[in-house]
Amino acid sequence: MNAKLSRRKTLAMLSAMPLAAAAPPARAAASLGETARRAGITYGAAAAGVIFEDPRYRLLYLDHCRAITSDVDLKFDWLRPHSPDQWDWGPADRLLAFAERTGMAFRGHTLIWNENPPRWLKKLSLAEIRRVFDEHIDTVCGRYSGRIAVWDVVNEPFWPGHGKKGGYRTGPWYEAFGPSYVERAFVRARAADPHAVLALNEAHCERFDDVGNGIRKGMKQLVARLLDAGAPLQALGFQAHLQPHIPHDDKRFAAFLRGFGDKGLDIHITELDVNDESFPDPVRKRDALVARRYGDFLRAVLAVPRVNTVINWELADRYSWYAGLARAGQLRSRRPPRPLPFDSGYRPKAAFHAMMKAFRGRKET
Ligand code: G3I
Repeated sequence: MNAKLSRRKTLAMLSAMPLAAAAPPARAAASLGETARRAGITYGAAAAGVIFEDPRYRLLYLDHCRAITSDVDLKFDWLRPHSPDQWDWGPADRLLAFAERTGMAFRGHTLIWNENPPRWLKKLSLAEIRRVFDEHIDTVCGRYSGRIAVWDVVNEPFWPGHGKKGGYRTGPWYEAFGPSYVERAFVRARAADPHAVLALNEAHCERFDDVGNGIRKGMKQLVARLLDAGAPLQALGFQAHLQPHIPHDDKRFAAFLRGFGDKGLDIHITELDVNDESFPDPVRKRDALVARRYGDFLRAVLAVPRVNTVINWELADRYSWYAGLARAGQLRSRRPPRPLPFDSGYRPKAAFHAMMKAFRGRKET
């Protein structure tokens, strides 16, 4: 048995067994996580319960990730799907224990999001929603205090399409507090967990169309307000679900990031993938275009000194959220999307090599 197999086998056993926290396993040189680490980047991926059902997929995380983001397990509607008093901690506890056993930093996603509220929450009065808001943050942050590296405290505060003043996304939390729910969430999270890095996470900022222009404007104003108010904001997460068919400008996006870095905020790329629906069918051509998008984007953002984290939104194509959209007929075709660094057979793709090249070539300007 060769050394790599024995290490992988050991890691597989390690990840499945409730052992004490282990030192991060030695990483393969061809590891995304190790290559990123040498460039000053924490690299990882979102994960859900499927990594406990698919051992080959789990091994990709062990080989390549130094961080894991909870894809769904820590969302409000997953923790409390049925009623205010029923909490389903199991999946999140298991995912966090896996990260701790295998030496990966854990990103909690997300405490407060105006999307996907469970039915019972929508039935409450505004006063009751305000109570639930505080209780939720206190309970979740208190339970995991000291174990979470980064919290996405608030996810996606903006959606101009909702027509609210300032372009805010509406939902139970916005309706109960107005825009001040954002500050409230950060202050509350810091009080319940003095350790975690607290981040504000947003989508679409890398688009240079009306949507992206509006959301970047909102983020600049919100961040200025939070910093002026002394809110415990330490990092900004930019999701980067890249849409090649939508106008984009990586250099201008990097300049946008640099502006926040100059205010002392860390910058995290939090949900990186490339929507390939506008690319031609042939897989080699499609993969090459996806890889070029990865390379162009990463070269631009990695030149920003305060960018210190890159997270893919899952690792292998079969588990991408785009696969569900394609099956549901919500993309231009139902062909299986190829948005991630590994294909559905867990093999590295051109995107993997483009990411490795970008990490190796990081030059801070
Ligand atoms: O697992 C259940 C399955 O048992 C059930 O039969 C099925 C019926 O609908 O639902 C399955 O759960 C789905 C889950 O994804 C699977 O992981 C949920 O319905 C579905 O709502 C959930 O969607 C997730 C979505 O956020 C809403 O939470 C996506 O996986 C997840 O990738 C997506 O991630 C978001 C980020 O949180 C924020 N940024 C955008 C990103 C993509 O939309």
